Amino acid sequence: MSIILPDLPYKKDALAPYVSSRTMDFHYEKHHHAYVTKLNKLLEGTDMADKTIEDIIKKTVNNTDQIGIFNNAAQVWNHTFYWKGMKPGCGGLPTGPIADKIESDFGSYDNFIIEFKNAGLGQFGSGWIWLVLKNNTLGIMKTSNADTPIAHGLTPLMTVDVWEHAYYLDYQNRRGDYLEAFIKNLINWEFANEIILTNKGS
Ligand code: FE2
Repeated sequence: MSIILPDLPYKKDALAPYVSSRTMDFHYEKHHHAYVTKLNKLLEGTDMADKTIEDIIKKTVNNTDQIGIFNNAAQVWNHTFYWKGMKPGCGGLPTGPIADKIESDFGSYDNFIIEFKNAGLGQFGSGWIWLVLKNNTLGIMKTSNADTPIAHGLTPLMTVDVWEHAYYLDYQNRRGDYLEAFIKNLINWEFANEIILTNKGS
Protein backbone atom coordinates (compact mmCIF):
# COMPACT_ATOMS: atom_id res chain seq x y z
CA MET A 1 0.00 0.00 0.00
CA SER A 2 1.35 3.40 -0.80
CA ILE A 3 0.41 6.79 0.57
CA ILE A 4 -1.94 8.64 -1.80
CA LEU A 5 -2.13 12.40 -2.37
CA PRO A 6 -5.69 13.20 -1.20
CA ASP A 7 -7.88 15.31 -3.47
CA LEU A 8 -8.32 18.96 -2.52
CA PRO A 9 -11.73 19.56 -0.88
CA TYR A 10 -12.42 22.43 -3.35
CA LYS A 11 -11.22 23.80 -6.69
CA LYS A 12 -7.85 25.51 -6.79
CA ASP A 13 -9.39 28.93 -7.36
CA ALA A 14 -12.00 28.53 -4.59
CA LEU A 15 -10.04 30.43 -1.93
CA ALA A 16 -9.12 33.39 -4.15
CA PRO A 17 -8.33 36.19 -3.65
CA TYR A 18 -7.09 35.24 -0.17
CA VAL A 19 -5.11 32.26 -1.48
CA SER A 20 -4.70 32.46 -5.25
CA SER A 21 -5.08 29.53 -7.62
CA ARG A 22 -1.39 30.00 -8.50
CA THR A 23 -0.40 29.47 -4.86
CA MET A 24 -2.75 26.49 -4.62
CA ASP A 25 -1.27 25.03 -7.76
CA PHE A 26 2.34 25.22 -6.50
CA HIS A 27 1.48 24.38 -2.92
CA TYR A 28 -0.65 21.32 -3.67
CA GLU A 29 0.77 20.01 -6.97
CA LYS A 30 4.44 20.67 -6.19
CA HIS A 31 4.98 20.80 -2.42
CA HIS A 32 2.27 18.48 -1.06
CA HIS A 33 2.69 16.10 -3.98
CA ALA A 34 6.48 16.01 -3.50
CA TYR A 35 6.12 15.03 0.18
CA VAL A 36 3.88 12.11 -0.87
CA THR A 37 6.35 10.98 -3.55
CA LYS A 38 9.38 11.23 -1.23
CA LEU A 39 7.56 9.44 1.57
CA ASN A 40 6.61 6.50 -0.66
CA LYS A 41 10.24 6.20 -1.80
CA LEU A 42 11.51 6.25 1.79
CA LEU A 43 8.94 3.64 2.88
CA GLU A 44 10.01 1.14 0.23
CA GLY A 45 11.41 -1.98 1.88
CA THR A 46 10.53 -0.88 5.43
CA ASP A 47 8.03 -2.51 7.78
CA MET A 48 5.93 0.66 7.63
CA ALA A 49 4.76 0.33 4.04
CA ASP A 50 1.29 -0.91 5.09
CA LYS A 51 0.83 1.47 8.04
CA THR A 52 -1.45 4.51 8.13
CA ILE A 53 0.14 7.93 7.92
CA GLU A 54 -0.79 8.62 11.57
CA ASP A 55 0.95 5.40 12.68
CA ILE A 56 4.03 6.25 10.61
CA ILE A 57 4.25 9.70 12.24
CA LYS A 58 3.90 8.32 15.78
CA LYS A 59 6.39 5.51 15.12
CA THR A 60 9.14 7.76 13.72
CA VAL A 61 8.84 10.96 15.79
CA ASN A 62 11.55 10.04 18.31
CA ASN A 63 13.82 8.14 15.97
CA THR A 64 16.58 10.31 14.52
CA ASP A 65 17.46 7.59 11.98
CA GLN A 66 13.97 7.97 10.53
CA ILE A 67 13.80 11.76 10.47
CA GLY A 68 13.31 11.77 6.67
CA ILE A 69 10.28 9.51 6.93
CA PHE A 70 8.90 11.54 9.84
CA ASN A 71 9.36 14.89 8.06
CA ASN A 72 7.69 13.77 4.85
CA ALA A 73 4.87 11.86 6.57
CA ALA A 74 4.13 14.78 8.90
CA GLN A 75 4.14 17.24 6.00
CA VAL A 76 1.71 15.03 4.05
CA TRP A 77 -0.62 14.89 7.07
CA ASN A 78 -0.26 18.61 7.95
CA HIS A 79 -1.11 19.77 4.44
CA THR A 80 -4.17 17.49 4.15
CA PHE A 81 -5.38 18.90 7.48
CA TYR A 82 -4.67 22.50 6.43
CA TRP A 83 -6.73 22.14 3.22
CA LYS A 84 -9.69 20.75 5.18
CA GLY A 85 -9.45 23.58 7.71
CA MET A 86 -10.16 26.22 5.07
CA LYS A 87 -13.39 26.83 3.19
CA PRO A 88 -14.56 29.55 0.82
CA GLY A 89 -16.81 32.10 2.50
CA CYS A 90 -15.82 31.08 6.03
CA GLY A 91 -13.57 32.60 8.68
CA GLY A 92 -14.65 35.30 11.09
CA LEU A 93 -16.68 34.54 14.18
CA PRO A 94 -17.07 30.85 14.99
CA THR A 95 -20.37 29.25 15.97
CA GLY A 96 -21.29 26.05 17.80
CA PRO A 97 -19.13 24.23 20.38
CA ILE A 98 -15.85 25.80 19.20
CA ALA A 99 -17.29 29.29 19.83
CA ASP A 100 -18.20 28.34 23.41
CA LYS A 101 -14.80 26.75 24.05
CA ILE A 102 -12.91 29.76 22.67
CA GLU A 103 -14.96 32.00 24.97
CA SER A 104 -14.27 29.87 28.03
CA ASP A 105 -10.63 28.93 27.36
CA PHE A 106 -9.31 32.22 25.90
CA GLY A 107 -11.73 34.65 27.60
CA SER A 108 -12.97 36.00 24.27
CA TYR A 109 -12.70 35.52 20.52
CA ASP A 110 -10.61 38.73 20.35
CA ASN A 111 -8.09 37.34 22.85
CA PHE A 112 -7.86 34.14 20.85
CA ILE A 113 -7.17 36.09 17.63
CA ILE A 114 -4.45 38.17 19.30
CA GLU A 115 -2.73 35.02 20.60
CA PHE A 116 -3.10 33.17 17.31
CA LYS A 117 -1.73 36.07 15.26
CA ASN A 118 1.16 36.66 17.66
CA ALA A 119 2.07 32.99 17.41
CA GLY A 120 2.00 33.22 13.61
CA LEU A 121 4.11 36.34 13.49
CA GLY A 122 6.50 35.01 16.14
CA GLN A 123 7.22 31.66 14.51
CA PHE A 124 10.84 31.98 13.32
CA GLY A 125 11.37 30.31 9.97
CA SER A 126 9.15 27.56 8.62
CA GLY A 127 6.39 25.92 10.59
CA TRP A 128 2.75 25.70 11.54
CA ILE A 129 0.41 27.41 14.01
CA TRP A 130 -2.28 25.22 15.53
CA LEU A 131 -5.40 25.42 17.61
CA VAL A 132 -5.25 22.23 19.68
CA LEU A 133 -7.16 20.42 22.38
CA LYS A 134 -5.08 19.21 25.30
CA ASN A 135 -6.89 17.58 28.22
CA ASN A 136 -10.09 19.07 26.82
CA THR A 137 -8.69 22.61 26.97
CA LEU A 138 -7.92 24.73 23.91
CA GLY A 139 -4.42 26.00 23.32
CA ILE A 140 -2.29 27.52 20.61
CA MET A 141 0.76 25.57 19.54
CA LYS A 142 3.64 26.50 17.26
CA THR A 143 5.54 23.73 15.52
CA SER A 144 8.74 24.09 13.52
CA ASN A 145 9.30 22.65 10.07
CA ALA A 146 7.25 19.45 9.74
CA ASP A 147 6.44 18.85 13.40
CA THR A 148 2.79 18.13 14.14
CA PRO A 149 0.59 17.94 17.28
CA ILE A 150 -0.55 14.40 16.50
CA ALA A 151 3.02 13.22 17.13
CA HIS A 152 2.68 14.55 20.68
CA GLY A 153 -0.73 13.17 21.61
CA LEU A 154 -2.65 16.42 21.05
CA THR A 155 -5.83 16.88 19.02
CA PRO A 156 -5.51 19.61 16.37
CA LEU A 157 -8.66 21.53 15.43
CA MET A 158 -7.23 24.00 12.94
CA THR A 159 -3.89 25.02 11.47
CA VAL A 160 -2.26 27.65 9.32
CA ASP A 161 0.83 26.90 7.26
CA VAL A 162 3.46 29.60 7.84
CA TRP A 163 6.10 28.17 5.52
CA GLU A 164 6.87 30.90 2.99
CA HIS A 165 5.63 28.68 0.14
CA ALA A 166 2.11 29.06 1.60
CA TYR A 167 1.92 32.81 1.09
CA TYR A 168 4.91 34.28 -0.72
CA LEU A 169 3.37 34.43 -4.21
CA ASP A 170 0.34 36.32 -2.87
CA TYR A 171 1.72 38.31 0.05
CA GLN A 172 5.53 38.24 -0.39
CA ASN A 173 7.02 38.93 3.06
CA ARG A 174 3.72 40.16 4.57
CA ARG A 175 2.94 37.16 6.73
CA GLY A 176 0.66 39.31 8.90
CA ASP A 177 -1.61 40.09 5.93
CA TYR A 178 -1.82 36.39 5.07
CA LEU A 179 -2.73 35.54 8.69
CA GLU A 180 -5.34 38.31 8.72
CA ALA A 181 -6.94 37.04 5.49
CA PHE A 182 -6.86 33.46 6.79
CA ILE A 183 -8.57 34.44 10.07
CA LYS A 184 -11.21 36.68 8.51
CA ASN A 185 -12.07 34.70 5.38
CA LEU A 186 -10.89 31.11 5.37
CA ILE A 187 -11.05 29.25 8.71
CA ASN A 188 -13.47 26.34 8.42
CA TRP A 189 -15.04 26.39 11.89
CA GLU A 190 -17.48 23.62 10.91
CA PHE A 191 -14.50 21.31 10.50
CA ALA A 192 -13.21 22.22 13.99
CA ASN A 193 -16.71 21.57 15.39
CA GLU A 194 -16.83 18.15 13.73
CA ILE A 195 -13.54 17.20 15.43
CA ILE A 196 -14.78 18.42 18.83
CA LEU A 197 -17.99 16.41 18.50
CA THR A 198 -16.12 13.27 17.35
CA ASN A 199 -13.62 13.68 20.15
CA LYS A 200 -16.41 13.84 22.77
CA GLY A 201 -17.80 10.57 21.51
CA SER A 202 -14.49 8.72 21.67
FE1 FE2 B 1 3.00 24.05 2.94
